[in-house]
Amino acid sequence: MRPIEQKYGIIGASEEIREVIRTIEQVAPSNISILIYGESGVGKELVARALHDLSLRRHGPYVIVNCGAIPAGTIESELFGHKKGSFTGSVEDRKGFFETADKGTILLDEIGELPAETQVKLLRTLEQGEITRVGESTSRRVDVRVIGATNRELSEEVQAGRFRKDLFFRLKTIMIRIPPLRERREDIPMLAEFFMMQYADEHHLAYKPITPQAMNLITQASWEGNVRELKNFVQSVFVLEEDKIIRPETIRHHLGNSEGNGNFMYDTRFPVRVNKETEQVERELILRQLFLIRQDVEEIKQKLSFVDVKDEVTMNKMKDISRYIQQSDAHEIQVDLSPDDRTMQEVERDMISRTLARFYGSKRKTAQALGMSERTLYRKIKEYDLRD
Ligand SMILES: Nc1ncnc2c1ncn2[C@@H]1O[C@H](COP(=O)(O)OP(=O)(O)OP(=O)(O)O)[C@@H](O)[C@H]1O
Ligand SMILES: [Mg+2]
Repeated sequence: MRPIEQKYGIIGASEEIREVIRTIEQVAPSNISILIYGESGVGKELVARALHDLSLRRHGPYVIVNCGAIPAGTIESELFGHKKGSFTGSVEDRKGFFETADKGTILLDEIGELPAETQVKLLRTLEQGEITRVGESTSRRVDVRVIGATNRELSEEVQAGRFRKDLFFRLKTIMIRIPPLRERREDIPMLAEFFMMQYADEHHLAYKPITPQAMNLITQASWEGNVRELKNFVQSVFVLEEDKIIRPETIRHHLGNSEGNGNFMYDTRFPVRVNKETEQVERELILRQLFLIRQDVEEIKQKLSFVDVKDEVTMNKMKDISRYIQQSDAHEIQVDLSPDDRTMQEVERDMISRTLARFYGSKRKTAQALGMSERTLYRKIKEYDLRD
């Protein structure tokens, strides 16, 4: 295996990544605000974290706010706090993320999503180092380093009138652009091997080497979803393949561009070809569904964690929200992935019944979600004696 080159958890040896790392090292110690730009999945959060960890504020709080996940109506009070009674439901004074991040760093993820009024307030905070809670008239000083992340071309957003020019100019003094994976293909083998190793490690499984030819195919793929997609791909191949070695056929098969009838069941993320033994297809489908469900759970977790902070009040609030979601959606997201003694039939039965429940009994939607025909679904409902 090749040596894995990484710095601050950022893997890669391409000139592009080295340049990103050089910039991080140069600008981290200052207080200047930074804009990180790159397509989805290129590693913006990783870079932001490295900036905080290398700064003099590293012992201070690090707060991540996903501006795209907070409703426009509450974002101002979430960021800047509010005074009791300033709007319906504000039963007590509350500080916002900026105050929470005092003496630390705030990452405004998806900053392009900020509503126009909030952009004005943010600019003031950047210029004067102070915030005003919603409903208050006096301002408070905050000492926060701001990092913005975006996968939108902000200059275009400015042109289109969706992002304020003055805020853009203020933020872009230092811009770190992370190139998409297809512009730095030499990083792909190292990343693929690392994710394979990481997955094997986490699940106490044996590492599966990727043959050089298979690695060539991986390296040539388009990776529109960048490193995140590559990571998911490598892990799904690991889960779905029984072979101890990852060969080109396997990669071709999972990338979904092999010759043959190319008849994919539904999800281009993890195509399952249908010209196989039914049993094998079913097995793959089940594993794939399990994998996708796990991914959905991860996504839900990520959406929930629009704040990531060790502040006690906020942590408790987040716990409440997450408890609430777990209760209300329990039937959708509780899937035990630990190895168990159930047979494949039992797993399948369980999955069909959960999916039926999820779609309130709709056979069409259930069949679609499970990638099987309605006819097969009806047959299985009967076979497993599931309530119709
Ligand atoms: N160079 C890298 N080395 C190791 N892991 C990486 C690298 N780049 C990205 N990753 C991993 O890929 C995944 C996506 O990265 P990240 O969340 O930072 O992307 P992002 O640019 O913030 O995407 P989005 O715009 O969708 O939020 C994460 O699991 C991250 O750890
Ligand atoms: Mg991100």
